[in-house]
Amino acid sequence: MRLNKYIAECGVASRRAADKLIAEGKVKVNNKTVTALGTDINEFNDTVTVDDRKITLVNRYVYIMLHKPKGCVTTVKDDKTPEEGSEVKARKTIMDYVNVTDKRIFPIGRLDYDTEGLILLTNDGALANKLTHPSNEIPKTYIAKIEGTLQESDLARLRNGIPLDGTVTHRSKVKVLGVENNISRIEITIYEGKNRQVRRMFEYVGANVIFLKRTKIGDLKLGGLGRGMSRYLTDREIAILQRL
Ligand code: URA
Repeated sequence: MRLNKYIAECGVASRRAADKLIAEGKVKVNNKTVTALGTDINEFNDTVTVDDRKITLVNRYVYIMLHKPKGCVTTVKDDKTPEEGSEVKARKTIMDYVNVTDKRIFPIGRLDYDTEGLILLTNDGALANKLTHPSNEIPKTYIAKIEGTLQESDLARLRNGIPLDGTVTHRSKVKVLGVENNISRIEITIYEGKNRQVRRMFEYVGANVIFLKRTKIGDLKLGGLGRGMSRYLTDREIAILQRL
């Protein structure tokens, strides 16, 4: 692995900042100062120190994609967990669907209890902030099924902005994918993350959402990942998110 990547993955600095540390002579590999950028190391056998402090991959960031099923809450721990001995059953959380025990991961953003689809989990707070900060206007794409059909004028209102929470939603992209048995399938891309935003936008134009699934965050796609299944993101997918 490239030395700068290793330093970044240990959570010490970004790759660029790692290059600076290397160039400044602050990094040693097996007790020898390394200043050449582009040095490769063996992450399993080599010992790397920064300012004479050993760094390891234990705090390595993880990035997980989950196909959240409907009927579970997007939290690490359900704050409505019933008292011990209570008859009431605890609600499922997204953590029931991921298998990471040695890292303190958390979801990036939220999907409603009844919404399914792409949710990301990580222990990388900086990336989570970037993806959720409203000023970054990260596009999020959903497939909604609604009862009945929408007039062109309603589609235009959805696209141009709907009054919600005392403001108007940003422009959105809306495409009718098809109508079958009086159910319309609509793809909608929004650039904010207001509470129940998609459902409330459709409600505003008089449509009842009977199914909602998030399929994309930026260019990152849920693809064919099965409901309730999770997997680690590839390096390419992580790069897509970091570029957003
Ligand atoms: N909009 C909604 O209405 N619900 C979600 O879960 C996400 C976006």
